[in-house]
Amino acid sequence: MKLSNERLVLREFIENDWIDLHKYASQELVCQYQPWGPNTEEESQNFVTQVLKDSKQEPRERFVFAIIYMEKMIGAGEFNIRDYANLAGEIAYIVNPDYWGKGIATEVATLLIDFGFKNLKLHRIYATCDPRNIASSNVLEKVGMIKEGKIRDDLLIKNGWRDSLLYGVLDYEWGK
Ligand SMILES: CC(C)(COP(=O)(O)OP(=O)(O)OC[C@H]1O[C@@H](n2cnc3c(N)ncnc32)[C@H](O)[C@@H]1OP(=O)(O)O)[C@@H](O)C(=O)NCCC(=O)NCCS
Repeated sequence: MKLSNERLVLREFIENDWIDLHKYASQELVCQYQPWGPNTEEESQNFVTQVLKDSKQEPRERFVFAIIYMEKMIGAGEFNIRDYANLAGEIAYIVNPDYWGKGIATEVATLLIDFGFKNLKLHRIYATCDPRNIASSNVLEKVGMIKEGKIRDDLLIKNGWRDSLLYGVLDYEWGK
């Protein structure tokens, strides 16, 4: 499984990706709004092992792609089918800080949403982010997702309960 545009390739994870993943997943800056991290080497290895295991699940729910830019692995984009009956999926993404501010996450989100509607034939795709994570809400707004509301105390992160902003897009709104 591979997704791509003019400058990015999103390919499925391979075992050795933990090394490049660890370069960013070990940084506090990257996981400040997340329930996990900063990762130890073992945690980064375990993440990749779990991703490879989940990729073999039938029916498949989880697709995690390595972001390849100028031949380097610089982040990850994830698609999860959350509800088969109601055709709903969720996207998420993470980029190595050395490559922030170049529009990469915006392109990754676009490729993931395309994948969800065109390949998986879903009806609704959503994403959540910490209300303080301005870069991530900018990405979701730039791709054309609609802010649908705020989920209160959605996640228990390192320093307590965290609200999430909820963004969504429907198949008939995409590519209009
Ligand atoms: C969120 C993240 C993926 C964005 O990656 P990116 O490749 O830099 O994103 P883009 O360049 O496509 O767009 C980011 C936008 O936010 C803006 N931005 C970045 N930091 C900002 C800040 N602190 N305040 C306001 N705007 C900010 C950028 O200027 C850009 O908008 P613009 O194109 O209108 O200028 C990256 O910061 C990251 O990996 N963060 C850690 C993991 C994470 O939070 N993932 C999302 C979980 S919901």
